Amino acid sequence: MAYISIRPPWMLPDHAVTPEHIHRRRREFLRQLGFLGSGLALAPATLAQATNRNAATNALAASPQAAPRNPAFSPKLPLTPERIVTNYNNYYEFSTQKDRVAQLVGRFRTNPWSVWIGGLCAKPMTLSFDDLLQVAPLEERVYRFRCVEAWSMVVPWTGFPLSKLLAKVEPTADAHYVKFTTVLRPDEMPGVQRLSDYPWPYTEGLRMDEAMHPLAIIATGLFGKPMPKQNGGPVRLVVPWKYGYKSIKSIVKIELVRDQPETLWNTLAPSEYPFESNVEPNVPHPRWSQATERDLATGNRIPTLPYNGYADQVASLYAPK
Ligand code: MTE
Repeated sequence: MAYISIRPPWMLPDHAVTPEHIHRRRREFLRQLGFLGSGLALAPATLAQATNRNAATNALAASPQAAPRNPAFSPKLPLTPERIVTNYNNYYEFSTQKDRVAQLVGRFRTNPWSVWIGGLCAKPMTLSFDDLLQVAPLEERVYRFRCVEAWSMVVPWTGFPLSKLLAKVEPTADAHYVKFTTVLRPDEMPGVQRLSDYPWPYTEGLRMDEAMHPLAIIATGLFGKPMPKQNGGPVRLVVPWKYGYKSIKSIVKIELVRDQPETLWNTLAPSEYPFESNVEPNVPHPRWSQATERDLATGNRIPTLPYNGYADQVASLYAPK
């Protein structure tokens, strides 16, 4: 990014995450909802029976924790350890220092939350976070994630295809692009005040055919838990064949538009951050090579793959017509 200082990635022990047992995830989620207090510690075995009968049922069924992994979208790759994914963050609204973001999100309110979806469509609507969870069955997908700064991770996201959300509002024929906007709350986001010359709020965009591609997802969870604030909670975009800055966090507005929308990074430095921004190892960033990337799990430098390894699925979107 234009003003990101590139620092050595975390040199943490090299190991894959042991997935947490599902009952632990459920207990944590219920605790967050207030269903588990100090005097109400249900054993995992009785928890399932209880949740069939009480008010937690719907919330549990709709929770990201319950999402099964979709093998068709989850190559067998070792996951980047959760503590790296949740502590090495780019979220300039809070800080330009990756290891500071998680410490600075405490005052950021993500509940209640709603997302407006409108513009060139027949049925504009505002969805609460709970409404969003009902748009399509939640599933887990293990995606490669490649930042323009030449580091990468492998992340288990929970979410659903963006296309399902867009279909709900019935885009009109002249909707050629989708514009996404992050919430802007300077009082809760110390980085916004510090970078006062940035064109806030953070915005991003996709072509309509990119947005409708099955790989593009709306993500509400990470490692089987609700999306941490530092990773873009409660709801973000994930577009795995593009550089990470296209995957906009904490979305409050999705607008169908006719013309290519302005985006924060493209406005700041168009020659460095083009609108399309597919992962292309043969196209160097003006200030560094994109041929390789540092795997944050191991610290090793590995070759960058065309379209971040998703060429089979997406290259046809960019074939000459
Ligand atoms: N979204 C917002 N609103 N603000 C940001 O600063 N950073 C982008 C993207 N989405 C960013 C954002 C960049 S540069 C990257 S690499 C990813 O978020 C990082 O996501 P992560 O912190 O979950 O790894």
